[in-house]
Amino acid sequence: MDSRHLAGVAFCILLTWRCAAQTPTSTIHASYAGDAACLSCHKDKAETFLGTAHHLTSRLAGRESIAGSLAPGKNVLTTANPELSYRMDARDGRYFQSAVMGTPPKTSTHTERMDFVIGSGRKGQTYLYWKGDQLFELPVSYWTELQQWVNSPGYQDGFADFDRPITPRCLECHATYFEATHPENHYKQTDFIVGISCEKCHGRGAEHMAWAEAKTRDTSGSRILNLAKLPRDRQMDLCALCHGGLGKELAPAFSFVPGQALEQYLELPRPDPAARLDVHGNQVALLERSRCYQESGTMTCVTCHDVHQPQRDATAFSQRCLSCHQVQSCGRFKTLGSQIAGRCVDCHMPLQTSNLIVSDANGRSVRPKVRNHWIKIYSDAAR
Ligand code: HEC
Ligand code: HEC
Ligand code: HEC
Ligand code: HEC
Ligand code: HEC
Ligand code: HEC
Ligand code: HEC
Repeated sequence: MDSRHLAGVAFCILLTWRCAAQTPTSTIHASYAGDAACLSCHKDKAETFLGTAHHLTSRLAGRESIAGSLAPGKNVLTTANPELSYRMDARDGRYFQSAVMGTPPKTSTHTERMDFVIGSGRKGQTYLYWKGDQLFELPVSYWTELQQWVNSPGYQDGFADFDRPITPRCLECHATYFEATHPENHYKQTDFIVGISCEKCHGRGAEHMAWAEAKTRDTSGSRILNLAKLPRDRQMDLCALCHGGLGKELAPAFSFVPGQALEQYLELPRPDPAARLDVHGNQVALLERSRCYQESGTMTCVTCHDVHQPQRDATAFSQRCLSCHQVQSCGRFKTLGSQIAGRCVDCHMPLQTSNLIVSDANGRSVRPKVRNHWIKIYSDAAR
């Protein structure tokens, strides 16, 4: 199959769409305390957490959240179709995408508001709009490596498509909470929490806050989930909710509770080891395939990542390898010496191109790179 048609976001929508149709409507409600409440006591996490991709992965549209330029001249995306271009602009504190069709002076426009931004902008972002109580993806996205507006991934260049529905599963991975009133694409417009918050991973915090605020604290426990105390499989399950692939939903989106077994909610795919990496990475399945994971018995995502702060420095990650290995245990040490010390991940967890193709109308295209989480010996890493 042509990888372009299976790519990225478009792929997500098609698959979730099909499986979501069989599941009943969610019944939980948004009784979350919110990050501001948590951070009022956990001040050590405040500055760093607010800069993480998790926190920033969905936001209301605004000057600060929209990465693309709205300046005249830079706010246009032309397409292969001379009769279609797009324009992004701001009016009265609101943000819009317009498809401009036809040849001047005979043009018509289709305009929709940008309501939500999805994506921290590490790689890129895409935009959603409300139509009644339904959410749809807009045809123009922003791609950071190209530093410009692009056709939304998986969209055909030259066709204005405003009709891609947003499934609950998409929002489950990119937001803390949306109240789906129908398994396909209907939401309460007043009941949502953007960004991945503390409570998405630690569970709802009301009881914990009551415990913490009490004059005399009950010493039997803090009434909140500390994931470090979970067995390995349960800890991995939390990350796998979003980093394990799209999967087949066995229960409604947003019903998973951290600490529980994911297999009751989601049947995860077993990716083909020979296939090109999915742009969404599937770090869980790849890591689990590594001998480090299998033979250590203790490795988890948290062995390397602190999710309370941004994770960007590849050199620092090589230090994590040395908690189990020695520089000398690398077969290349004899010839290359200690210069390999800060570079373990370069060779054993290489950056590789993904299956997604992102392009603008000037024929420029990129395949986003992702870090392969299968830690092993790569035959092309001999140098
Ligand atoms: C009123 C202050 C306060 C607020 C608000 C608060 N916490 Fe805590 N939290 C504490 C204290 C005190 C501890 C115990 C610290 C210790 O034992 O070192 C704690 C411990 C924790 C732990 C570790 C639990 C364990 O058993 O190891 C987690 C996780 C946590 N908080 C998450 C949260 C989250 C998520 C929120 C927001 C919903 C939150 N906290 C809000 C005061 C607070
Ligand atoms: C609710 C879904 C969800 C859960 C649960 C989740 N993640 Fe993520 N994670 C995401 C999304 C979405 C992104 C990409 C956000 C973006 O860039 O817009 C991300 C990004 C990341 C990044 C890149 C961070 C950066 O700042 O560059 C790391 C590392 C990561 N996640 C690790 C984890 C680990 C470890 C766990 C489990 C403890 C976990 N995630 C749980 C959805 C999730
Ligand atoms: C199974 C969970 C999951 C689903 C479903 C999902 N995503 Fe993602 N998405 C992720 C994760 C995890 C990342 C980060 C991947 C990485 O960097 O390796 C990501 C990355 C992205 C990014 C790039 C963010 C950045 O700056 O790096 C965008 C944009 C995005 N997703 C949009 C969407 C949209 C729109 C949908 C639904 C139509 C969707 N995704 C469905 C988990 C998911
Ligand atoms: C993506 C999932 C995720 C998010 C979001 C998250 N945490 Fe955590 N948290 C973890 C995991 C996993 C651990 C256990 C491993 C560790 O200590 O890093 C943990 C541990 C903790 C601990 C106990 C250990 C310590 O570092 O003191 C506290 C307290 C805590 N988190 C508070 C918070 C607060 C407050 C927020 C929001 C600002 C938050 N967490 C957001 C996953 C998450
Ligand atoms: C939690 C402990 C742990 C950590 C952290 C760890 N490993 Fe391992 N690794 C192991 C174990 C155990 C094995 C299997 C026995 C052996 O070869 O020592 C292994 C095996 C390997 C192998 C051989 C793989 C194969 O397929 O033959 C390589 C290469 C490797 N590790 C590299 C790394 C690198 C690079 C890092 C850091 C990115 C790392 N490891 C982090 C425990 C770990
Ligand atoms: C042995 C160390 C190690 C472990 C364990 C590990 N990671 Fe990573 N991870 C890395 C490194 C190194 C990077 C690249 C950081 C960079 O280049 O900025 C990375 C990057 C990421 C990113 C950003 C996406 C990208 O392609 O750059 C995500 C998301 C992520 N990891 C999630 C996870 C999840 C989920 C787990 C558990 C299944 C996990 N990681 C376990 C080392 C690790
Ligand atoms: C320049 C690329 C490169 C770098 C950097 C590198 N390795 Fe390796 N490593 C290899 C290759 C290639 C092999 C297998 C061939 C060989 O043994 O000569 C290997 C083998 C290994 C093995 C398996 C040894 C065995 O006998 O099974 C481990 C463990 C390992 N490396 C760990 C590390 C650690 C830890 C670091 C960082 C300190 C590191 N490597 C840095 C390329 C590299």
